[in-house]
Amino acid sequence: MSENADSPNPKDLLELAVRLAAEAGRLLVQERPRDLGVADTKSSPTDIVTVMDQRSEKLIVEGILAERPDDGILGEEGSDHEGTSGVRWVIDPIDGTVNYLYEIPLWGVSIGVEVDGETVAGVVEIPMLRETFTALRGHGAYRNGQAIRAFSAQSEGKPVPMDRALIATGFGYAAQRRAVQGAIVADLLPKVRDIRRGGSAALDLCSVACGRVDGYFERGAKPWDLSAGALIAQEAGAKVGGLHGAAASDEMTVAAADGLFEALCGFLEGHDAARDS
Ligand code: IPD
Repeated sequence: MSENADSPNPKDLLELAVRLAAEAGRLLVQERPRDLGVADTKSSPTDIVTVMDQRSEKLIVEGILAERPDDGILGEEGSDHEGTSGVRWVIDPIDGTVNYLYEIPLWGVSIGVEVDGETVAGVVEIPMLRETFTALRGHGAYRNGQAIRAFSAQSEGKPVPMDRALIATGFGYAAQRRAVQGAIVADLLPKVRDIRRGGSAALDLCSVACGRVDGYFERGAKPWDLSAGALIAQEAGAKVGGLHGAAASDEMTVAAADGLFEALCGFLEGHDAARDS
């Protein structure tokens, strides 16, 4: 992206994203109704929306448009317009909604910012862990302002072999897809240190970024789940992609440091993991 008087400065975009993610995080903690229920469902009866997802998205979208009315927006809870500025905000107002509903603290607010189709900035705010993950393309990844790297303490900066790797994953909402995912995980489990199913793809990617897990894969994660977290993982030194050299997408997303990334992709390709039956 060329820097000129008209082109947006990614640092300014990140600052706005960080401010709005923090405001949304405070709203979600302070104004969560005690009797929070399911307001709506999407792809399946367990793919839920709460009133707080909707309120969080509204707060973020209004905050963006108040400062940048010409920008495009894609939000999980329905915000979708193109904009004319070349900037697009990709928002998950609560990533980990089921955790939020059950008061499991592993949920967050994710905001990625694209300029001309490339993600240049991202924030994942995890209020209950008091963690703010950020990245600017080309400038590294940070947790609460401290630089992070995608190597666990166990890896000692070297590629982690599969049989020592702690792998995060997630499952889709459709029963048929879950059956396939379950069979693949059953075969992976004896080959790795262990599996984690945290319940927030954005947090899983940030966990790769800070070495809290060694790798992550998931079929079905959407742009709003991935946008900020994928940049954060990449900027922390992880590889993020799909199978057979494809880009990360809802077909399949894999994230891990060099070496393990290839091993994980090889395992998933061998199981033809981007399928639903
Ligand atoms: C979900 C979470 C979950 C992942 C699902 C996502 P949501 O996002 O990230 O970990 O397995 O694929 O849909 O619905 O809570 O925003």
